[in-house]
Amino acid sequence: MLNIKIEKTTCPKPKPVDESQLGFGKISTDHMFVMDYTEGQGWHDPRIIPYQNFSLDPATVVFHYAQEIFEGMKAYRTAEGKIQLFRPDCNAKRMNDSADRLCIPNIPEEDFIQAVKALVEIDADWVPYTDGCSLYIRPFIFATDVGLGVHASKHYIFSVIAMPSGAYYAEGINPVRIYVEDEYIRAAPGLTGFTKCGGNYAASIKAGEMAEEQGYAQVLWLDGVEKKYVEEVGSMNIMFKIDGKVYTAACTGTVLPGVTRRSCIELMKDWGYEVIEGKLAIADVMKAAQEGKLEEVWGTGTAAVVSPVKELKWKDQVAHIGDGKIGPLTQKLYDTMTGIQWGKLPDDKGWIVPVC
Ligand code: COI
Repeated sequence: MLNIKIEKTTCPKPKPVDESQLGFGKISTDHMFVMDYTEGQGWHDPRIIPYQNFSLDPATVVFHYAQEIFEGMKAYRTAEGKIQLFRPDCNAKRMNDSADRLCIPNIPEEDFIQAVKALVEIDADWVPYTDGCSLYIRPFIFATDVGLGVHASKHYIFSVIAMPSGAYYAEGINPVRIYVEDEYIRAAPGLTGFTKCGGNYAASIKAGEMAEEQGYAQVLWLDGVEKKYVEEVGSMNIMFKIDGKVYTAACTGTVLPGVTRRSCIELMKDWGYEVIEGKLAIADVMKAAQEGKLEEVWGTGTAAVVSPVKELKWKDQVAHIGDGKIGPLTQKLYDTMTGIQWGKLPDDKGWIVPVC
């Protein structure tokens, strides 16, 4: 159990008045959680302080060698005014899986959850009231050794910040257009594709910008070896309903093991769907579209929630999905996930963790 010191801000910021204009990840709350790590001493000095800049030497390891990982999670306000988290244990575990790959020390799962809860509780007034808006929480760890040698740092900072947010995509729940990237890759076996490390995202920006210039919301990544099989979208996992069955890439090292992905798979299995986690060739997706068998495509992610896809472009082929509107299974997943998260549906699976 952490003994968290609390220093409250003496000048709280005004809260956003029009929550429909929040966008994603633009405004911070009043406070942040910080904890230091020193080799030989472990994690120490857990504290909540007013939101502020870090002061770091220009030769700090993270600036040069990207030894950094993060998580994404949300706090939801229910109609009764309670505030709750969704499966924070999954985020805590995934952060440690990322940490292992990046040679970053683990944080005990209960400490991670305590830190997140403590920040949300102190900034509880920042959790939005508007339907569809939530408090996006960003836990992250970065290396703070100073020096230019490439090695695992002996010092780290674990911090948690939070930002009231609306939909991740400007389209909201409206279907998005996705560009299938056939030049650049995001991950390859043995690399860091399964982690949430900043480097994965940095490497994806170029393709994302190129897709955006052509009017696409995001890039769909293919496997890094053959550029043949669908993997993920970068800010979300992706699922395809073809001829009644649901397909998504397996989490075998190159795909992020999404918490929303996992939850949707569990729900669909309960509903009797056959869900196949494995290799799905992009050529087969396009063929299914031509044959009228590509029924629905959607992304899943903490930020993106459940996000319908209406179009896929791969080389010179374009697949239009359904009638361009959100499909029935995508809608059911969206309604069920958000229903549980916002406390409108019963939490039969024990996924909800109350904060206050
Ligand atoms: C999340 O869904 O929480 C993510 O971390 C995706 C992010 C890149 C916006």
